[in-house]
Amino acid sequence: MTFPTDRPATWFVTGTSRGLGLELVKQLLERGDNVAATTRSTERLLAALDTDTTRLLPLAVDLRDEAAVAQAVRQTTDRFGGLDVVVNNAGYGFLAAVEETSDRDVRDMLDVQVAGVWNVLRATLPVLREQRGGHVVNVSSVLGLTSVPGWALYCAGKYALEGLSEALAGEVAGFGVGVTIVEPGYFRTGFLTTDSLALPENTTPAYPEIREMVENHLKLQGNQLGDPVRGARITIEKVVSGDTSLRLVLGSDSHAYATAKVHALQATLDAAASTASASDFPA
Ligand SMILES: NC(=O)c1ccc[n+]([C@@H]2O[C@H](COP(=O)([O-])OP(=O)(O)OC[C@H]3O[C@@H](n4cnc5c(N)ncnc54)[C@H](OP(=O)(O)O)[C@@H]3O)[C@@H](O)[C@H]2O)c1
Repeated sequence: MTFPTDRPATWFVTGTSRGLGLELVKQLLERGDNVAATTRSTERLLAALDTDTTRLLPLAVDLRDEAAVAQAVRQTTDRFGGLDVVVNNAGYGFLAAVEETSDRDVRDMLDVQVAGVWNVLRATLPVLREQRGGHVVNVSSVLGLTSVPGWALYCAGKYALEGLSEALAGEVAGFGVGVTIVEPGYFRTGFLTTDSLALPENTTPAYPEIREMVENHLKLQGNQLGDPVRGARITIEKVVSGDTSLRLVLGSDSHAYATAKVHALQATLDAAASTASASDFPA
């Protein structure tokens, strides 16, 4: 994709009243770009912005509602005359053992992190495809590459996002549309605060390590390694430079966890090299 240089680019960003999404909106407005920013609370978004908002279209959108998302995308193209970059950023953490996770918890998470992203993609891809150019940025996590106890539901959502993004990248490359999966480690945003982090309604005493994890994660707030200002800047620079490499690993913690996962997976594959064919039909 060639990023427009002769006019302001138009970005559609989800989950923008806090954290990385808010920082993206600030920096994009400071660049002079147009930003359609979806949020559950436009009041919270506007109160958090101290930048010139002339080029901002704040949109109160429930990402789980396909018609509302489609309408938000139409409002964006009507207001700015087009669309260049889509950032699926909205997401939240959930910390519990698998058996403590209710049906409602599962559906809520996948509604936001998978069905919501799909709603945005269904509404925006035709625009990018028909103009034969654009960029989709899907904010995943290192927990979209590797999984740890307590984070099963969050990982399930982010692994799904990784899978759909990899397939999407192959589908739309021929239309000049790039796809980037962003994989942050721990970032100093609202993610680990009680405003964002969801917990199960019922727990069992069988998992004291997970209760301890919850406490430790809440205490980590303010000490995470990742800087959302730098993370947003690097993400924007990647898109603006036209770099269409699939992944953007953010944070040395993310890099270390992902590397350990790749090594473990490689060891599994090496060990299976001579045995995997045992289930093949004989030639
Ligand atoms: N911070 C980290 O450690 C970390 C690590 C890896 C990946 N990530 C990912 O980075 C992205 C941004 O998170 P953040 O770190 O900036 O956290 P944050 O400060 O909590 O912000 C999350 C944003 O997502 C939106 N959101 C949260 N729950 C939602 C829900 N139920 N429905 C719709 N939107 C919801 C919120 O938008 P509104 O309130 O404006 O609607 C909010 O602005 C997320 O996808 C997260 O999974 C974060």
